Amino acid sequence: MREKGLIGAGMVFCMISCMALFLCSCGKQQPDSAGKVHIGVAYYDQSDTFLNQLLDCLRERIREFETEEFETMITVRDAAGSQRTQDDQVKELIDAGCNVLCVNLVDRANPSEIIDLAREYDVPIIFFNREPVAEDMMQWDKLYYIGADAEQSGILQGELAADRMKEAAQTDRNKDGKIQYVVLEGEPGHQDTIIRTESVVETLKNSGIELEKLSYGIANWNRAQAQNRMMQMIGQYRNQIELVLANNDDMALGALDAYEKLNYTESALPVFFGIDGTDEGLEAVKDGRLSGTVYNDKEGQAEAMARLAVALVSGEGLEELLKEMEFEDGKYCYLSYEKVTKDRVEEFLEK
Ligand code: GAL
Ligand code: CA
Repeated sequence: MREKGLIGAGMVFCMISCMALFLCSCGKQQPDSAGKVHIGVAYYDQSDTFLNQLLDCLRERIREFETEEFETMITVRDAAGSQRTQDDQVKELIDAGCNVLCVNLVDRANPSEIIDLAREYDVPIIFFNREPVAEDMMQWDKLYYIGADAEQSGILQGELAADRMKEAAQTDRNKDGKIQYVVLEGEPGHQDTIIRTESVVETLKNSGIELEKLSYGIANWNRAQAQNRMMQMIGQYRNQIELVLANNDDMALGALDAYEKLNYTESALPVFFGIDGTDEGLEAVKDGRLSGTVYNDKEGQAEAMARLAVALVSGEGLEELLKEMEFEDGKYCYLSYEKVTKDRVEEFLEK
């Protein structure tokens, strides 16, 4: 009897606590996907200036989607240049409850592990800035890419340089009718390195400028590496260099650093062109140290990423968004580049 009574009391207690638990959990915000976007961002390296500025834009943009009913969260991981590390980070982001991923691959030819993981957990991926190869993009239907058209950036940089050569005859300092130039290149194998380098040179040639390539240096998008490469090239070619074409602003600034370090006077300097329109790059255009840059639309890219992430998670307005933002094949979105010269730089500094 006594024992039975105890069991009965135990059962009642258990039922009450179960109900209490149930009630509590109803009151708490459950990680309900419909009411929350949690973006897991994985990017290749935290030393990259342009990407850090792009991610600041993304943080800002996603915050604007926050409402009483809709929570937004973003968790960022830096792979420090290792694809292995990035694969692990993606797993951690999924485990942490991210319901959409924004991935800036370390090795753009090696996304399979990440795609398999995301598919297993049904978490869509928005790749950005480092474009996976087409076959990989076809591995799953929840894969997207947001970036910009590398060829366009090379063409615009070439047009800027051609305009400058035509306006300012003194660019041809040794008056041999040719422009002696060097190129500072980004990471080998990156779509922007290969295509920008090709298309800038081609555009210059097509516009009737005679060119002579003296040398090139690989500087992996990095200012300090560019300074080093440039020091070596100056050591070899001295005053012969008339034009420096850099695949991005940081490397153009690194080239400028090299000349500064060597105490070159302004009249002995070549002209410099970058790409990105980073904060420092725009400042350098403003004060005339860079002759021009090409704006890599980080605000537009961040906006597209934020809107797509929200649409993918909420399940609302996806088709309309893909149409409105002119996604190619329903998967690829390329934001336009723009030329920046001194007379237009304020407009970009205000962004
Ligand atoms: C390019 C950009 C570079 C660098 C690179 C990283 O689009 O111009 O500055 O950020 O992406 O993948
Ligand atoms: Ca010359």
